[in-house]
Amino acid sequence: MRTPLIAGNWKMNGSAEKIRAFGEAFAGARLPGTLEVVVMPPFPYLAEAQRAFAGTPLAAGAQTLNPEPAGAHTGEVSASMLAEFGVTHVLVGHSERRQQGETDEQVYRQACAALDADLVPVLCVGETLEQRNAGATREVILRQVAAVLEPLEPARRERLVIAYEPVWAIGTGLTATPDEAQAAMGAIRGWLEALNSDLAAGLRLLYGGSMKAGNAAELLARPDIDGGLIGGASLQVDEFFAICQSAG
Ligand code: PGA
Repeated sequence: MRTPLIAGNWKMNGSAEKIRAFGEAFAGARLPGTLEVVVMPPFPYLAEAQRAFAGTPLAAGAQTLNPEPAGAHTGEVSASMLAEFGVTHVLVGHSERRQQGETDEQVYRQACAALDADLVPVLCVGETLEQRNAGATREVILRQVAAVLEPLEPARRERLVIAYEPVWAIGTGLTATPDEAQAAMGAIRGWLEALNSDLAAGLRLLYGGSMKAGNAAELLARPDIDGGLIGGASLQVDEFFAICQSAG
């Protein structure tokens, strides 16, 4: 009953040409029935994505946003600007941004701004290797989830997606085992259950961290893994397409 979601986070990679190649490859593609697929390129390519993805199963997403509606914020982009270019989903709290100082409070404000503009915030949470080794995985990820979910009005919570991305697995080729991923994501589902059982049943949880065509199916088979947030492997159209195929 939860629609699977595969999202490709291109980070600071790609080109207008690559956007067009993805649009062409996915035009008329036969994908698993109810799958949602989002490609998140850098900001300058969103206009090209809006054109190239029209009539394909691909939606365009963004990698971050500034929570303010407008103003003197050099280099920043607001939620309404993203919406104007057809963006449907936006990452908030990716670990690469948290490492640059983004706080739980800022991530909460970004999620609110995204929701105000009718975008789906994809809240990224995950522990570092030191935190995992110290036995703090559960505490860290639940704190990151709670910082956004608890203060949100209950009716708005269900529009979020949560991506569990262990920091040590991002871009390293080290993937959490399906058991490790399921344990962390089961803990998130359990926390949601304590908040509201309907919310827990409906909210989608994605796994991210070196997911690729070769390991996607076994991760996606786990009960609390409803999709993937893919970095490196989302930059090759065949690889990304193969991951989408395993999400049926
Ligand atoms: P990766 O990145 O798939 O390259 O590990 C995932 C992410 O950072 O979203």
